[in-house]
Amino acid sequence: MEFSAMVAREADGGIVLDRERGGEDFLGTGEVTIKVHYSSANYKDALAITPRGGVVRQYPIIPGIDLTGEVVASETDEFAPGDLVIAHGYDLGVSRNGGFAEYARVPAEWTVRLEGLSTRDAAAIGTAGFTAALSVQRLLGHGLTPDDGPVLVTGANGGVGSVAVDLLSTLGFEIHASTGNTGAADRLADLGANEVIGRLPEDPDAKPRPLGKARWAAAVDSVGGKSLAYILSSIGYGGAVAASGLTGGAELPTTVLPFILRGVSLLGVDSVALPIEERRALWTALGAELRPRHLDTIAAVAPITEVNQVLAAIKDGGHTGRTVLEVAGAF
Ligand SMILES: NC(=O)c1ccc[n+]([C@@H]2O[C@H](COP(=O)([O-])OP(=O)(O)OC[C@H]3O[C@@H](n4cnc5c(N)ncnc54)[C@H](OP(=O)(O)O)[C@@H]3O)[C@@H](O)[C@H]2O)c1
Repeated sequence: MEFSAMVAREADGGIVLDRERGGEDFLGTGEVTIKVHYSSANYKDALAITPRGGVVRQYPIIPGIDLTGEVVASETDEFAPGDLVIAHGYDLGVSRNGGFAEYARVPAEWTVRLEGLSTRDAAAIGTAGFTAALSVQRLLGHGLTPDDGPVLVTGANGGVGSVAVDLLSTLGFEIHASTGNTGAADRLADLGANEVIGRLPEDPDAKPRPLGKARWAAAVDSVGGKSLAYILSSIGYGGAVAASGLTGGAELPTTVLPFILRGVSLLGVDSVALPIEERRALWTALGAELRPRHLDTIAAVAPITEVNQVLAAIKDGGHTGRTVLEVAGAF
């Protein structure tokens, strides 16, 4: 079997992502061989082709932390040819070959059978949307209800943010969407945002206050950095922040005051190493009661051959929503 893949290689001090042909040498170890229908573009994929991006240790590699498709061969009774599946996270696309290829082989314990979602819808959700769902699940587990007050979503125009706005609005929450994209207000309102505000803190040069006015009951934050510090100081008594990202920086310049004077909780969200049973259960919910209502608005589709342009937009912080990468028949 010979097939096409986008391979990232180090060259001239940079990283070049280009189409190559390969076979068994492109497939990893594992029980499930998948004909990839779609991958998607995530912030981590952009880091994978950035020199010193910190996510890939060894090149060459086929990036793509998400892949959805159809099982073509299985060495376990758990999966059979024809099953529609998604695999994402774990080592995919960072320390073993990922989804930017026509075929992939993955361990059965990383594979999720799709229920109620097409391979395209599942790719539209992808790691970013799954992380949004996990963030919402963590807040609900904390006891958050729509009666508690408005919920803030940061990086709202991005992948995690857009899906978080959609899911929270389905659940009946009042949503304040924070974005640096001045043209995104109508789109975010369509997804369910009740108020659209700029990036936080509003004045990035102001001296950070350990505690400010309580503005939100909770937050889904994929920005991190000073923004997260500001949000923690603005959450109401007993509220929580589900934190998953670092587009605004990895440092967290805060104090203990929000935690010890307001009982605020900082809930860490990790989709990458999430145990498979929890992962499968959340995907089942995403195909049923938690299904995002606006996937067609949230996700654009591009052929895999345009992946370099899509990842460049993510790196520039100007990406909107999610981009599904069409793999089957698109090389
Ligand atoms: N913990 C996990 O398991 C997990 C999983 C998935 C993603 N993540 C992380 O979550 C973050 C978002 O991922 P994504 O796939 O949603 O990326 P994305 O689609 O590129 O969205 C990121 C958004 O962050 C905002 N942003 C970008 N640069 C910024 C800056 N300098 N300051 C403040 N805001 C900025 C922008 O939103 P606006 O245009 O609305 O301002 C951008 O659209 C990344 O850090 C990613 O690594 C973590």
